Amino acid sequence: DAATTTAIIDLDLPGATISRHVYGHFAEHLGRCIYGGFWVGEESAVPHVRGIRSDVVAALRALQIPNLRWPGGCFADDYHWRDGIGPRDQRPRMVNSHWGDVVEDNAFGTHEFMDLCELLGAEPYVSGNVGSGTVAEMSDWVEYLTRADDSPMAALRRANGRDEPWRVPFWGLGNEAWGCGGNLRAEQFASLARQYATYARNHGDNSLYRIAAGADSGDLHWTETLMRSFGDLAADPDEPVRPFQALSLHYYTMSGSWGDKGDATGFSTDEWYTTMARARHMDELLTRHSTVMDRYDPHRKVGLVVDEWGTWWNVEKGTNPGFLYQQNTLRDALVASVHLDAFHRHAERVVMANIAQTVNVLQAMILTDPGTGALVLTPTYHVFAMNTAHHDAAALAVHLRGVPTRAVDGSELPLVSASASVKADAALISLSHLDTETDRSVVLDLRGRAVVAYEARVLTAPTLDAHNTPEQLDAVAPTVHHGVRPHPRGLEVDLPAHSYVTVSLDLR
Ligand code: AHR
Repeated sequence: DAATTTAIIDLDLPGATISRHVYGHFAEHLGRCIYGGFWVGEESAVPHVRGIRSDVVAALRALQIPNLRWPGGCFADDYHWRDGIGPRDQRPRMVNSHWGDVVEDNAFGTHEFMDLCELLGAEPYVSGNVGSGTVAEMSDWVEYLTRADDSPMAALRRANGRDEPWRVPFWGLGNEAWGCGGNLRAEQFASLARQYATYARNHGDNSLYRIAAGADSGDLHWTETLMRSFGDLAADPDEPVRPFQALSLHYYTMSGSWGDKGDATGFSTDEWYTTMARARHMDELLTRHSTVMDRYDPHRKVGLVVDEWGTWWNVEKGTNPGFLYQQNTLRDALVASVHLDAFHRHAERVVMANIAQTVNVLQAMILTDPGTGALVLTPTYHVFAMNTAHHDAAALAVHLRGVPTRAVDGSELPLVSASASVKADAALISLSHLDTETDRSVVLDLRGRAVVAYEARVLTAPTLDAHNTPEQLDAVAPTVHHGVRPHPRGLEVDLPAHSYVTVSLDLR
């Protein structure tokens, strides 16, 4: 009946592959993300491997972290890679003018980052400096990282203790070039992106996937200008000489304005719903940017990389405003799940995404206590953990019927968001329930294949701003969900108010 919330899923109609890289992460030289978060140094009492925190690495390995973007962010366009190589005590210092105006000692540089990626089992996504760097500087960095023979940069790398070249699959051309990355106009940057991309070369069998700094939220002109710079992609979809392979998009979620973004905890119900409506806006942004891209690239060869997304709240009281340290609650978890649904739905165009930022900054997976060093996994971490089966699975369309809505800022916000995927004989269905008060159930109308077994997990808490702390590590943590039962159409799943539920299916 019309009052029943139903999700119709054809299990035998697999769509585009959800790249595991949409579960990517971002670590900038900002606040306590790199320093204190990943890097504690070789003298630290905190357990580490070559200066890199072991517990942080273990927690991220458990998420099967696919890639890590570094060194920024805005910092990337201030960063000169030669400052971060060679003996640590001889590295030059610089001012991190974007983030807290602190002095950066370059203790964490290229070798430390590549070591971190190897420990994580993650692919590096290096963000090159276009804003204040040179074409030659970027070209040399690529050579330093990826060249095997005795070229000048390969020799320099060897002199610094690393014989073998690294594999670097992802390369960023600038960051927010419309803002902190140079305040450029779209036309100006499109030309620069082509030029820098040309000199970010493939060495040996290392093939770079070059990602040009893309638009801010709804700036379609930026996307259109970059797309137009390719020339006629439709004429020859296999044209091998595209200077870069993808463009990025940045979009942050907050309940207020950039001047007063809203607090991470202690927020009102209205702020909850405004936040959810803004999180859902990601889906619309992806549709709009993809529509522009489709006009120039109907064969969908150019990727869209959402390499910064997530919540951005007012900083926690008493912390450095330039360090962007914020708490992470059940609300953040649902912001994440709603975004991930959007990425799954747009799998054909969205090839990668990087939540900002992994540790101690913005919507982090992990918070560490600066005093005791205690490690806390956030509610957002748990959403990523519950979703690992979506990595590289085929997206399934989810048709929702009878979803109640709520008026938010002049639009209707659907109170259930869902996505699904299938890989061989296993499917995963993700259900985000955004209603703050009412429990409801959803019928999964499962078609096309037989379900031989199922199990579910739920992430919820008594309050909307529940969060984890060193004293209460599991205030928000997933548990087995018993509210699932067979239904003539498939399964019926209880969705508690403000909850995230995943249902895993074994299929025949
Ligand atoms: O993630 C924090 C900052 O947000 C990044 O440095 C910048 O790219 C964006 O404005």
